[in-house]
Amino acid sequence: MIDLDALERDLLGQIEQAGDEAALEALRVAALGKKGSVSELLKTLGAMTPDERRERGPLINGLRDRLQGAILAKRETLAEAALDARLAAERIDVTLPLREAPETRGRIHPISQVIEEITAIFSDLGFSVAEGPDIETDELNFTALNFPEGHPAREMHDTFFLRPDNFGKRKLLRTHTSPVQVRTMRAKQPPIRVIMPGRTYRHDSDQTHTPMFHQVEGLVIDRSANIANLKWVLESFCRAFFEVDSVTMRFRPSFFPFTEPSAEVDIQCSRKDGELRFGEGTDWLEVLGCGMVHPNVLRNGGLDPDQVQGFAFGMGIDRLAMLKYGMPDLRPFFEADVRWLDHYGFRPIDVPSLVGGLTG
Ligand code: PHE
Repeated sequence: MIDLDALERDLLGQIEQAGDEAALEALRVAALGKKGSVSELLKTLGAMTPDERRERGPLINGLRDRLQGAILAKRETLAEAALDARLAAERIDVTLPLREAPETRGRIHPISQVIEEITAIFSDLGFSVAEGPDIETDELNFTALNFPEGHPAREMHDTFFLRPDNFGKRKLLRTHTSPVQVRTMRAKQPPIRVIMPGRTYRHDSDQTHTPMFHQVEGLVIDRSANIANLKWVLESFCRAFFEVDSVTMRFRPSFFPFTEPSAEVDIQCSRKDGELRFGEGTDWLEVLGCGMVHPNVLRNGGLDPDQVQGFAFGMGIDRLAMLKYGMPDLRPFFEADVRWLDHYGFRPIDVPSLVGGLTG
């Protein structure tokens, strides 16, 4: 005859040892399941004599009830322990500072910001925006802009050339945004009022030059656009851009093959102790070239110089940014240093507009 006390001690011991709810369930099935050891014992009651049954029945049933009770109690203990473990693992310290959301943490690069500002100002003056490719043909970057083959002005551009194609023609990284002038003339009929922002490239690097930089070209063509209009547009732009009542600008006579007459424009600034300050001092930073569009360029753009005329300008976006935001060196603009961007970058939700304020 089976020793019920020994069986009970053994099973209770195993229940006590069960490490998790799955182990406990396995034990329950092994003892009380259909083919469980205790269930098998209960089945033996049927074959007993009434006397035997009277004696063994309560013993076996009692064993089953105690086991069920022990399993239930253990299950509760295990569930509580599991909950405690989860609470401990998923503990949140609500006193910790909030992690900043991407839209407040991210920064807009000053160049992107300044392009947005420039676009807002010129849109207000009735200009639309056009773009051209960074990889340009020699024809559009130079020839159509009235740089004759072999002209020394080509050398002044420190051009990056690509490998020549099968016909010996070499494309280049555009050295200025002026080729988009010709693209625009070929695509649109006057009156034309466009700005053309984009990347430009020259083999040059120092505090105010980087091999890749940004320009915005401006082009106005109609029947009577003249130098007075050009000056007014540039001055209006500078006042709006620098958010001041007057800007000290210096127009110097200059030469560009694609404009006649031509001028370069400097903006007054001071450089002290590695700081660049706008609107004071005795230094000047050259920020743009401009002039009346040369008749040859109008012709190359498919226009008739006896019918229309106009002016063009090309501004250095990076330098405008340096002046406005007081950054003394251009090179960090392109070093992708997050600390620099954190300091000089702009919040993405402050979109520049003339109504809402350019710089938020
Ligand atoms: N393309 C000239 C430069 O890069 C600037 C310029 C543009 C001058 C338009 C005159 C007219 O220096």
